[in-house]
Amino acid sequence: MLEASDREIAELVRREKERQARKLVLIASENYAGPAVLEAQGSILTNKYAEGYPGRRYYGSCQEVDSVERLAIERARDLFGAEHANVQVHSGTQANLAAYLALVEYGDTIMSMSLSHGGHLSHGSPKSFSGKWYRFVHYEVDRETELLDYESIARLAREFRPKLIVAGTSSYPRFIDFEKLHEVAAETGALLMIDMAHLAGLIAGKVHPSPIPWSDVVTSTTHKTLRGPRGGFALSRKQYANRLDAAVFPGVQGGPLMHVIAAKAVAFGEAQQPEFAAYARKVVDNAKTLAGELMELGFRIVTGGTDTHLLLIDLRSTGMTGKQAENLLDCVNISTNRNGIPFDPKPPALTSGLRLGTPAVTSRGMGPDEMRQIARMIHKVLSQPGDEKVKGEVSDAVAALACQFPIG
Ligand SMILES: Cc1ncc(COP(=O)(O)O)c(C=O)c1O
Repeated sequence: MLEASDREIAELVRREKERQARKLVLIASENYAGPAVLEAQGSILTNKYAEGYPGRRYYGSCQEVDSVERLAIERARDLFGAEHANVQVHSGTQANLAAYLALVEYGDTIMSMSLSHGGHLSHGSPKSFSGKWYRFVHYEVDRETELLDYESIARLAREFRPKLIVAGTSSYPRFIDFEKLHEVAAETGALLMIDMAHLAGLIAGKVHPSPIPWSDVVTSTTHKTLRGPRGGFALSRKQYANRLDAAVFPGVQGGPLMHVIAAKAVAFGEAQQPEFAAYARKVVDNAKTLAGELMELGFRIVTGGTDTHLLLIDLRSTGMTGKQAENLLDCVNISTNRNGIPFDPKPPALTSGLRLGTPAVTSRGMGPDEMRQIARMIHKVLSQPGDEKVKGEVSDAVAALACQFPIG
């Protein structure tokens, strides 16, 4: 139908599909949603208005979408063991916006990880609503170990007495100790909010400790390691359920995207299956193998490895910026993104780091052998940046690998 009614868009979709199949996607926040998720997201549920919540809508004829949303809520709660779930939030950023609205007042102090050490823009960037509406105090990783330093977080919390402590990042490769953060929050009278956007699939698959027992609110995206549709959700203790729901609607959103909620329900259902736990384990194993092989080849990996789906290469010894490395690899169809490393001397537009993640290549079925091959390809291109023959050889090798692992 699209082809017949809008050839321009149909052609662009076709080209994007071809690009996704051709490239090795190592962007840590990207993944391939499965066909059932895509079908639900592309369904006629998009036609329905359903402001409100199941059983208390501001529109009639919501019986079917009520059931859809109830299923999504139930599955999210079961999957993560949470007391309450809101599945209406349109994105990770909006989940955070709603959580702040529910938990703190305009101008209150919030403590979160420094954006240059892995915090997200919605954790207090001066350019985001968060930095404009709240007073953010940032903690950093330790300069030596590059790990979260829970003692210094506690000191900062004692000094600034934040109303809310936020943790969860887009580039920290190690386990986060949620229990320790809970202790800091409890000692200093703060609430604890965990943004598990990057970790949701790993937590669902039980290869990363869960923040649920330790946090007041947990926010997330659905489209990263969780492999769902593009969207968000938020979990909370029962006592914050009403405040959270009211903050989402009518606080920061209007009508829910029922087709996306259906796709979230499908993704939560898929993540409840034993195969998903196996997938999550492989994602982490692949990231460890990729990091190990890159270190063997002489790269420095921030923190010396990874416990998760992502790793950060410190490019300083290569003399190359993150931007140059990202562009070079893109030329050979390896898709990555530049990323600041802790205490990065270079600005965010250039950076000294390159972030790699394994959720997407693992979804394609790749394993440790392929990770070692990919590490060697990255090394070959980055160590001979001016060599066109090398680029040609690696492009061919990428094409051969991509063909062996179709995207379905
Ligand atoms: C930790 C974290 N939180 C929130 C977000 C925002 O998610 P979205 O792009 O859906 O707004 C991201 C996105 O990368 C993220 O990494």
